[in-house]
Amino acid sequence: PAVLLLHGPNLNLLGERDPAQYGTTTLADIEKRVTNLGADLGADVVCAQSNHEGVLVEQVHAARSMAGIVLNPGAFAHYSIALRDAVDAVDVPCVEIHISNVHAREEFRHRSVIAPVAQGYISGFGVDGYDLALRGVLLRAAGTR
Ligand code: DQA
Repeated sequence: PAVLLLHGPNLNLLGERDPAQYGTTTLADIEKRVTNLGADLGADVVCAQSNHEGVLVEQVHAARSMAGIVLNPGAFAHYSIALRDAVDAVDVPCVEIHISNVHAREEFRHRSVIAPVAQGYISGFGVDGYDLALRGVLLRAAGTR
């Protein structure tokens, strides 16, 4: 099965951006790690990142033929109804992930408009959260839970 690993705005700067919050792992490191875990689990991981809402919407649409989506929407989690509707529109399980524990941060990060239409939600495990998200979405894709 193919899984889309999709990152939203500012996550291309991972590694240099606010390391106290997000650590020093780069986006390329994360993509490599998830791709390798995918290979171990028999899944093809397709990686994409954009800083543009409409591009992210189109990337979610393009995942219609895939088995699942692992999505770190960045700040769009908190207010993009368009991205939420895209996730809702495609019949593909989506796990939302945040590297930081958004609930321990500013109040405006506490709400996700995407979480209600996602299969599940992971926040606060740092980059280890991506392993959990990939495993979760593959379990769901296989219909085993
Ligand atoms: C983030 C949390 C968001 O609130 C923030 O806007 C990000 C990163 C995370 O992975 O912890 O860009 O999605």
